Amino acid sequence: MASKKEKKELELTDLPGIGPAVAAKLESAGILDLMSLAVASPATISDSAGVSQAVARKAIQAARDLLDLGFSDGLEFAEKRANIHYITTGSKNLDELLGGKGIESRSITEAFGAFGSGKTQLGLSLAVNVQLPKDQGGAEGKCVFIDTEGTFRPARIKQFAEGVGANPDNVLKNILVARAFNSDHQMLLLDKISEMIKEGEPIKLLIIDSLTAHFRAEYSGRGQLADRQQKLNRYMHDLMKLAETYNLAVYVTNQVMANPAQLFGDPTTAIGGNIVGHASTYRLYLRRGKQGSRVAKLIDSPNLPDNEAVYFVTSAGLRDKA
Ligand code: GTP
Ligand code: MG
Repeated sequence: MASKKEKKELELTDLPGIGPAVAAKLESAGILDLMSLAVASPATISDSAGVSQAVARKAIQAARDLLDLGFSDGLEFAEKRANIHYITTGSKNLDELLGGKGIESRSITEAFGAFGSGKTQLGLSLAVNVQLPKDQGGAEGKCVFIDTEGTFRPARIKQFAEGVGANPDNVLKNILVARAFNSDHQMLLLDKISEMIKEGEPIKLLIIDSLTAHFRAEYSGRGQLADRQQKLNRYMHDLMKLAETYNLAVYVTNQVMANPAQLFGDPTTAIGGNIVGHASTYRLYLRRGKQGSRVAKLIDSPNLPDNEAVYFVTSAGLRDKA
Protein backbone atom coordinates (compact mmCIF):
# COMPACT_ATOMS: atom_id res chain seq x y z
CA MET A 1 0.00 0.00 0.00
CA ALA A 2 2.72 2.45 1.05
CA SER A 3 4.62 1.97 -2.18
CA LYS A 4 1.50 2.72 -4.21
CA LYS A 5 1.08 5.99 -2.40
CA GLU A 6 4.60 7.02 -3.27
CA LYS A 7 4.00 6.14 -6.89
CA LYS A 8 0.95 8.40 -7.01
CA GLU A 9 3.07 11.37 -6.10
CA LEU A 10 5.21 11.00 -9.19
CA GLU A 11 4.66 13.73 -11.73
CA LEU A 12 4.04 13.76 -15.44
CA THR A 13 7.57 15.01 -16.05
CA ASP A 14 8.94 11.81 -14.51
CA LEU A 15 7.86 10.00 -17.66
CA PRO A 16 10.02 9.40 -20.73
CA GLY A 17 9.42 11.95 -23.50
CA ILE A 18 7.58 14.38 -21.24
CA GLY A 19 9.40 17.58 -20.43
CA PRO A 20 7.94 20.62 -18.70
CA ALA A 21 6.56 22.09 -21.93
CA VAL A 22 4.66 18.95 -22.87
CA ALA A 23 3.52 18.50 -19.28
CA ALA A 24 2.12 22.04 -19.31
CA LYS A 25 0.19 21.30 -22.50
CA LEU A 26 -1.17 18.10 -21.03
CA GLU A 27 -2.20 19.91 -17.90
CA SER A 28 -4.08 22.51 -19.84
CA ALA A 29 -5.88 19.65 -21.60
CA GLY A 30 -6.98 18.35 -18.21
CA ILE A 31 -4.38 15.58 -17.86
CA LEU A 32 -3.16 16.52 -14.41
CA ASP A 33 -1.76 13.29 -13.09
CA LEU A 34 -0.49 9.85 -14.00
CA MET A 35 -3.91 8.28 -13.62
CA SER A 36 -5.57 10.53 -16.17
CA LEU A 37 -2.69 9.89 -18.54
CA ALA A 38 -2.79 6.13 -17.97
CA VAL A 39 -6.41 5.89 -19.04
CA ALA A 40 -6.18 8.31 -21.98
CA SER A 41 -5.88 7.28 -25.61
CA PRO A 42 -2.70 7.96 -27.65
CA ALA A 43 -4.71 10.02 -30.15
CA THR A 44 -6.09 12.33 -27.46
CA ILE A 45 -2.68 12.82 -25.90
CA SER A 46 -0.97 13.39 -29.22
CA ASP A 47 -3.61 15.99 -30.21
CA SER A 48 -3.64 17.87 -26.95
CA ALA A 49 0.10 17.87 -26.26
CA GLY A 50 1.37 18.18 -29.81
CA VAL A 51 3.57 15.08 -29.59
CA SER A 52 3.68 12.15 -31.96
CA GLN A 53 1.41 9.19 -31.31
CA ALA A 54 4.48 7.06 -30.64
CA VAL A 55 5.63 9.38 -27.87
CA ALA A 56 2.09 9.52 -26.54
CA ARG A 57 1.85 5.72 -26.49
CA LYS A 58 5.14 5.39 -24.62
CA ALA A 59 4.15 7.95 -22.04
CA ILE A 60 0.78 6.26 -21.49
CA GLN A 61 2.44 2.87 -21.14
CA ALA A 62 4.97 4.27 -18.68
CA ALA A 63 2.18 5.83 -16.62
CA ARG A 64 0.37 2.48 -16.59
CA ASP A 65 3.47 0.64 -15.46
CA LEU A 66 4.14 3.13 -12.71
CA LEU A 67 0.59 2.88 -11.46
CA ASP A 68 0.52 -0.89 -11.61
CA LEU A 69 -2.63 -0.91 -13.70
CA GLY A 70 -3.98 -4.06 -15.17
CA PHE A 71 -5.27 -7.20 -13.55
CA SER A 72 -5.72 -7.43 -9.86
CA ASP A 73 -5.91 -10.74 -8.09
CA GLY A 74 -9.09 -11.81 -6.33
CA LEU A 75 -7.90 -10.59 -2.97
CA GLU A 76 -7.04 -7.12 -4.24
CA PHE A 77 -10.35 -7.02 -6.03
CA ALA A 78 -12.14 -7.95 -2.82
CA GLU A 79 -10.27 -5.19 -0.98
CA LYS A 80 -11.41 -2.68 -3.55
CA ARG A 81 -15.00 -3.86 -3.16
CA ALA A 82 -14.65 -3.58 0.60
CA ASN A 83 -13.88 0.12 0.19
CA ILE A 84 -17.21 0.77 -1.46
CA HIS A 85 -19.51 2.97 0.54
CA TYR A 86 -23.22 3.57 0.31
CA ILE A 87 -25.42 6.60 0.85
CA THR A 88 -28.98 6.18 1.99
CA THR A 89 -31.72 7.90 0.00
CA GLY A 90 -33.73 8.29 3.21
CA SER A 91 -36.36 5.80 2.05
CA LYS A 92 -35.91 2.13 2.99
CA ASN A 93 -37.95 1.11 -0.03
CA LEU A 94 -35.75 3.04 -2.41
CA ASP A 95 -32.57 1.83 -0.69
CA GLU A 96 -33.82 -1.76 -1.06
CA LEU A 97 -34.45 -1.22 -4.75
CA LEU A 98 -30.80 -0.15 -5.12
CA GLY A 99 -29.54 -3.29 -3.43
CA GLY A 100 -30.11 -2.49 0.24
CA LYS A 101 -28.10 0.53 1.32
CA GLY A 102 -28.76 3.30 -1.18
CA ILE A 103 -26.45 4.57 -3.90
CA GLU A 104 -23.01 3.08 -4.24
CA SER A 105 -19.51 4.54 -4.63
CA ARG A 106 -17.39 3.74 -7.71
CA SER A 107 -20.56 3.85 -9.75
CA ILE A 108 -22.92 6.24 -11.47
CA THR A 109 -26.58 6.34 -10.50
CA GLU A 110 -28.81 8.08 -13.02
CA ALA A 111 -32.35 9.26 -12.34
CA PHE A 112 -34.51 10.19 -15.28
CA GLY A 113 -38.11 11.29 -15.40
CA ALA A 114 -40.51 14.10 -16.25
CA PHE A 115 -40.57 17.60 -14.73
CA GLY A 116 -41.38 17.43 -11.06
CA SER A 117 -40.81 13.68 -10.82
CA GLY A 118 -38.39 14.23 -7.93
CA LYS A 119 -34.94 13.97 -9.50
CA THR A 120 -33.63 17.11 -7.80
CA GLN A 121 -35.26 16.18 -4.47
CA LEU A 122 -33.40 12.87 -4.46
CA GLY A 123 -30.15 14.74 -5.15
CA LEU A 124 -30.69 17.25 -2.34
CA SER A 125 -31.49 14.42 0.02
CA LEU A 126 -28.30 12.51 -0.89
CA ALA A 127 -26.29 15.72 -0.44
CA VAL A 128 -27.43 15.78 3.18
CA ASN A 129 -27.27 12.05 3.88
CA VAL A 130 -23.69 11.59 2.61
CA GLN A 131 -22.62 13.58 5.66
CA LEU A 132 -24.19 11.18 8.15
CA PRO A 133 -22.13 8.72 10.16
CA LYS A 134 -21.70 5.34 8.46
CA ASP A 135 -24.01 3.55 10.88
CA GLN A 136 -26.76 5.97 9.88
CA GLY A 137 -26.38 5.37 6.18
CA GLY A 138 -23.87 8.09 5.36
CA ALA A 139 -20.24 8.21 4.28
CA GLU A 140 -19.04 10.95 6.63
CA GLY A 141 -18.06 13.03 3.65
CA LYS A 142 -18.75 16.15 1.68
CA CYS A 143 -20.76 16.59 -1.47
CA VAL A 144 -20.07 18.48 -4.67
CA PHE A 145 -23.25 19.70 -6.34
CA ILE A 146 -22.94 20.80 -9.95
CA ASP A 147 -26.02 22.83 -10.66
CA THR A 148 -26.77 23.48 -14.31
CA GLU A 149 -30.27 24.84 -13.90
CA GLY A 150 -30.12 26.98 -10.79
CA THR A 151 -32.30 24.55 -8.86
CA PHE A 152 -30.07 24.10 -5.80
CA ARG A 153 -32.17 25.20 -2.80
CA PRO A 154 -30.34 25.95 0.47
CA ALA A 155 -33.65 26.26 2.33
CA ARG A 156 -34.62 22.77 1.27
CA ILE A 157 -31.23 21.42 2.39
CA LYS A 158 -31.80 22.97 5.80
CA GLN A 159 -35.18 21.22 6.08
CA PHE A 160 -33.67 17.87 5.14
CA ALA A 161 -30.80 18.45 7.59
CA GLU A 162 -33.31 19.01 10.38
CA GLY A 163 -35.08 15.88 9.20
CA VAL A 164 -32.01 13.82 10.11
CA GLY A 165 -31.24 15.81 13.26
CA ALA A 166 -28.16 17.55 11.86
CA ASN A 167 -27.09 21.18 12.18
CA PRO A 168 -28.45 22.90 9.04
CA ASP A 169 -25.59 25.39 8.68
CA ASN A 170 -22.93 22.73 9.08
CA VAL A 171 -24.67 20.59 6.51
CA LEU A 172 -24.79 23.49 4.04
CA LYS A 173 -21.09 24.17 4.59
CA ASN A 174 -20.24 20.64 3.53
CA ILE A 175 -21.96 20.99 0.18
CA LEU A 176 -19.73 22.60 -2.43
CA VAL A 177 -22.00 24.05 -5.07
CA ALA A 178 -20.88 25.15 -8.51
CA ARG A 179 -23.08 26.58 -11.19
CA ALA A 180 -22.14 25.20 -14.64
CA PHE A 181 -22.91 27.77 -17.31
CA ASN A 182 -22.53 25.58 -20.38
CA SER A 183 -21.44 22.08 -21.29
CA ASP A 184 -17.75 23.00 -21.60
CA HIS A 185 -17.80 24.58 -18.20
CA GLN A 186 -19.60 21.51 -16.87
CA MET A 187 -16.78 19.33 -18.23
CA LEU A 188 -14.03 21.56 -16.84
CA LEU A 189 -15.50 21.44 -13.36
CA LEU A 190 -14.57 17.75 -13.15
CA ASP A 191 -10.88 18.68 -13.15
CA LYS A 192 -11.53 21.10 -10.36
CA ILE A 193 -13.03 18.27 -8.33
CA SER A 194 -9.91 16.10 -8.76
CA GLU A 195 -7.86 19.03 -7.51
CA MET A 196 -10.04 19.57 -4.46
CA ILE A 197 -9.85 15.89 -3.53
CA LYS A 198 -6.08 15.92 -3.91
CA GLU A 199 -5.94 18.95 -1.66
CA GLY A 200 -7.64 16.84 0.97
CA GLU A 201 -11.35 17.65 0.70
CA PRO A 202 -13.17 14.50 1.89
CA ILE A 203 -15.58 14.45 -1.04
CA LYS A 204 -17.66 11.27 -1.21
CA LEU A 205 -20.52 12.27 -3.47
CA LEU A 206 -20.79 14.12 -6.76
CA ILE A 207 -24.16 15.30 -8.02
CA ILE A 208 -24.82 16.66 -11.48
CA ASP A 209 -28.26 18.18 -11.84
CA SER A 210 -28.90 18.13 -14.74
CA LEU A 211 -26.41 15.97 -16.61
CA THR A 212 -27.91 16.57 -20.03
CA ALA A 213 -29.72 19.95 -20.09
CA HIS A 214 -26.78 21.97 -21.48
CA PHE A 215 -25.85 19.30 -24.01
CA ARG A 216 -29.41 19.15 -25.19
CA ALA A 217 -29.76 22.92 -25.52
CA GLU A 218 -26.41 23.46 -27.25
CA TYR A 219 -26.64 20.60 -29.71
CA SER A 220 -30.24 20.85 -30.75
CA GLY A 221 -29.84 21.01 -34.53
CA ARG A 222 -30.61 18.00 -36.68
CA GLY A 223 -27.03 17.47 -37.77
CA GLN A 224 -25.59 17.83 -34.28
CA LEU A 225 -26.74 14.64 -32.64
CA ALA A 226 -23.52 12.75 -33.33
CA ASP A 227 -21.41 15.57 -31.87
CA ARG A 228 -23.58 15.72 -28.80
CA GLN A 229 -23.42 11.98 -28.25
CA GLN A 230 -19.67 11.98 -28.66
CA LYS A 231 -19.25 14.74 -26.11
CA LEU A 232 -21.66 13.10 -23.68
CA ASN A 233 -19.82 9.83 -24.11
CA ARG A 234 -16.55 11.49 -23.21
CA TYR A 235 -18.19 13.15 -20.22
CA MET A 236 -19.65 9.88 -18.91
CA HIS A 237 -16.23 8.31 -19.32
CA ASP A 238 -14.61 11.12 -17.32
CA LEU A 239 -17.26 10.78 -14.63
CA MET A 240 -16.70 7.04 -14.29
CA LYS A 241 -12.97 7.59 -14.10
CA LEU A 242 -13.47 10.10 -11.30
CA ALA A 243 -15.80 7.71 -9.47
CA GLU A 244 -13.26 4.88 -9.73
CA THR A 245 -10.16 6.89 -8.95
CA TYR A 246 -11.52 8.57 -5.85
CA ASN A 247 -14.13 6.05 -4.70
CA LEU A 248 -16.91 8.57 -5.25
CA ALA A 249 -20.62 7.99 -5.54
CA VAL A 250 -21.95 9.87 -8.56
CA TYR A 251 -25.61 10.85 -8.93
CA VAL A 252 -26.82 12.43 -12.17
CA THR A 253 -30.26 13.56 -13.29
CA ASN A 254 -31.57 13.35 -16.81
CA GLN A 255 -34.64 14.70 -18.54
CA VAL A 256 -36.94 12.72 -20.77
CA MET A 257 -38.41 13.55 -24.12
CA ALA A 258 -41.65 12.41 -25.64
CA ASN A 259 -41.22 9.42 -27.88
CA PRO A 260 -44.20 9.40 -30.24
CA ALA A 261 -43.10 6.11 -31.76
CA GLN A 262 -43.90 4.25 -28.57
CA LEU A 263 -47.60 3.43 -28.49
CA PHE A 264 -47.87 1.50 -25.24
CA GLY A 265 -46.74 2.25 -21.72
CA ASP A 266 -45.01 5.48 -20.82
CA PRO A 267 -43.99 7.19 -24.07
CA THR A 268 -40.85 8.83 -22.80
CA THR A 269 -37.16 8.15 -23.32
CA ALA A 270 -34.12 9.56 -21.53
CA ILE A 271 -31.96 12.19 -23.20
CA GLY A 272 -28.65 10.85 -24.37
CA GLY A 273 -30.19 7.42 -24.81
CA ASN A 274 -27.78 4.52 -24.88
CA ILE A 275 -24.68 6.61 -24.26
CA VAL A 276 -25.84 7.71 -20.85
CA GLY A 277 -27.73 4.50 -20.17
CA HIS A 278 -24.79 2.20 -20.77
CA ALA A 279 -22.39 4.32 -18.78
CA SER A 280 -24.70 4.49 -15.77
CA THR A 281 -24.36 1.62 -13.34
CA TYR A 282 -27.83 2.10 -11.89
CA ARG A 283 -30.71 3.74 -13.76
CA LEU A 284 -33.84 4.87 -11.99
CA TYR A 285 -36.97 5.95 -13.79
CA LEU A 286 -38.94 8.28 -11.49
CA ARG A 287 -42.61 9.14 -11.76
CA ARG A 288 -45.49 10.38 -9.65
CA GLY A 289 -47.61 7.64 -8.07
CA LYS A 290 -50.99 7.49 -6.35
CA GLN A 291 -51.88 9.73 -3.40
CA GLY A 292 -48.84 11.92 -3.59
CA SER A 293 -46.42 9.01 -3.64
CA ARG A 294 -43.43 8.65 -5.94
CA VAL A 295 -42.43 5.54 -7.82
CA ALA A 296 -38.90 4.60 -8.84
CA LYS A 297 -38.26 1.79 -11.26
CA LEU A 298 -34.83 0.22 -11.60
CA ILE A 299 -33.95 -0.31 -15.25
CA ASP A 300 -31.51 -2.78 -16.81
CA SER A 301 -29.34 -3.34 -13.77
CA PRO A 302 -26.65 -5.98 -14.31
CA ASN A 303 -27.05 -7.51 -10.87
CA LEU A 304 -30.45 -6.48 -9.50
CA PRO A 305 -34.02 -7.25 -10.59
CA ASP A 306 -36.04 -4.59 -12.44
CA ASN A 307 -38.31 -3.79 -9.49
CA GLU A 308 -40.19 -0.71 -8.35
CA ALA A 309 -40.16 1.18 -5.06
CA VAL A 310 -42.82 3.53 -3.67
CA TYR A 311 -41.78 6.43 -1.44
CA PHE A 312 -42.73 10.00 -0.52
CA VAL A 313 -40.94 13.32 -0.73
CA THR A 314 -41.58 14.85 2.72
CA SER A 315 -40.24 17.95 4.42
CA ALA A 316 -37.79 15.73 6.34
CA GLY A 317 -36.47 14.05 3.21
CA LEU A 318 -37.40 10.97 1.21
CA ARG A 319 -39.41 8.55 3.34
CA ASP A 320 -41.48 5.38 2.97
CA LYS A 321 -44.54 7.12 4.44
CA ALA A 322 -46.04 10.57 3.79
P1 GTP B 1 -37.20 19.03 -13.25
O1 GTP B 1 -35.88 19.44 -12.72
O2 GTP B 1 -38.11 20.16 -13.52
O3 GTP B 1 -37.10 18.11 -14.43
O4 GTP B 1 -37.95 18.19 -12.10
P2 GTP B 1 -37.38 17.25 -10.94
O5 GTP B 1 -37.59 15.84 -11.33
O6 GTP B 1 -36.02 17.67 -10.54
O7 GTP B 1 -38.40 17.54 -9.78
P3 GTP B 1 -38.08 18.00 -8.29
O8 GTP B 1 -37.15 17.06 -7.65
O9 GTP B 1 -37.76 19.43 -8.27
O10 GTP B 1 -39.49 17.71 -7.63
C1 GTP B 1 -40.44 18.69 -7.54
C2 GTP B 1 -41.49 18.15 -6.60
O11 GTP B 1 -40.90 17.93 -5.30
C3 GTP B 1 -42.57 19.16 -6.38
O12 GTP B 1 -43.60 18.94 -7.32
C4 GTP B 1 -43.00 18.86 -4.97
O13 GTP B 1 -43.92 17.80 -4.98
C5 GTP B 1 -41.77 18.37 -4.29
N1 GTP B 1 -41.14 19.46 -3.58
C6 GTP B 1 -40.18 20.30 -4.01
N2 GTP B 1 -39.86 21.23 -3.10
C7 GTP B 1 -40.66 20.97 -2.05
C8 GTP B 1 -40.80 21.55 -0.76
O14 GTP B 1 -40.13 22.54 -0.42
N3 GTP B 1 -41.72 20.98 0.07
C9 GTP B 1 -42.45 19.90 -0.30
N4 GTP B 1 -43.32 19.36 0.56
N5 GTP B 1 -42.34 19.32 -1.50
C10 GTP B 1 -41.45 19.84 -2.35
MG1 MG C 1 -34.77 19.18 -11.14
